[in-house]
Amino acid sequence: MRGRAPLRSLPLLLLLLLGSAAETPPYLPAPKNVEVYSYNFQSLLRWSPVPVENGTVLYTAQYRTGSWSAWDEMGCTRTPQPQCWFPPELQRRRRWTILLRVRAELGTLASAWAHCPAFVAERNTTLGPPRVNSVSASPGSLLISVSPPFAPEPGDILQYLVSYWENSTSATEKQKLSESKTLFQIGNLKESTLYCFRVQVQLRIYSGHLLEGQPSAPECHRTALSEATRAGYIIPLFVLALVVANLVAAALLILWKNREKIKYWAQPPLEIPSHFKEFLRDPGSAGLEELCSPAEEEPQALVLGEGPGQEGEDPSPNTSRDRAATAGPPQ
Ligand SMILES: *[C@@H]1O[C@H](CO)[C@@H](O)[C@H](O)[C@H]1NC(C)=O
Ligand SMILES: *[C@@H]1O[C@H](CO)[C@@H](O)[C@H](O)[C@H]1NC(C)=O
Ligand SMILES: *[C@@H]1O[C@H](CO)[C@@H](O)[C@H](O)[C@H]1NC(C)=O
Repeated sequence: MRGRAPLRSLPLLLLLLLGSAAETPPYLPAPKNVEVYSYNFQSLLRWSPVPVENGTVLYTAQYRTGSWSAWDEMGCTRTPQPQCWFPPELQRRRRWTILLRVRAELGTLASAWAHCPAFVAERNTTLGPPRVNSVSASPGSLLISVSPPFAPEPGDILQYLVSYWENSTSATEKQKLSESKTLFQIGNLKESTLYCFRVQVQLRIYSGHLLEGQPSAPECHRTALSEATRAGYIIPLFVLALVVANLVAAALLILWKNREKIKYWAQPPLEIPSHFKEFLRDPGSAGLEELCSPAEEEPQALVLGEGPGQEGEDPSPNTSRDRAATAGPPQ
């Protein structure tokens, strides 16, 4: 295998030599940015691909534990992908210190090994937010059911850290609550009030520390209205409705009783007042200015009555005055 490989890849080697500057020795750079991406204890070793002019670069990844010096295959030997999932037996080892390395290979060329910092799942993984399954609202509390973001192992000590706040225009301070069950209650809440909360998990790890998960997106729920308060709202509302209904009925009754008067007020009399008729029949008898000025009706009648006396004419003043009096506004 080893003896024949150089012969087979000789043309490739020549091409590489021709492609780059003639003096540079054949050289394959090691992969860069080697890191472990680990989410909810699912871990993946990944790196930046090595750029070459031609051909497919293959990668080989290996691991060893902190206490064992021999490197083992991870199941990713000469793979074209720039990543490698941890094998199942490794995924389960949350507390092991795992050392990882990867190199690039192109034909007979192999890069140097690139290492990544020691990985301990329990310390390095990112825990996602727990899933909020259901929320049920009571007058003074919210009952919340959650699921952990990963399948817990026997003996895992998981806590749910809940932070909640009242949803109001003013910035209200957040309150915290730590629960060990997946079904828990936020109590001592105001009724019929919108509260928001977010939950994150905390896993107690071997060292005694807590591994904190990402918080869930805030969820807002309104607490229920208690029966007592509902009754407290309903009775005054009922009384108010009764009062309004009575007022409306009384107003309608008054309108009905006075319908004749209202009819009268609503339409101005179409008839020309008698003193105007008088004036139209005999225009010279009264002062024009006084008639045209918008004065009250009584004085106008008086002016008409007095007119003839002053100007020395005689168009029967008595009848004029009488008619003016009868044509005045009713009552
Ligand atoms: C790259 O490969 C293609 C075909 O696979 C070939 O035609 C070309 O000459 C190669 N170029 C270099 C620089 O090796
Ligand atoms: C794991 O965490 C430690 C401490 O935070 C850090 O130094 C190390 O680089 C991390 N390992 C990986 C593979 O990210
Ligand atoms: C209040 O609730 C609304 C609707 O759920 C939400 O968009 C808003 O961010 C909340 N405000 C606060 C301060 O939590």
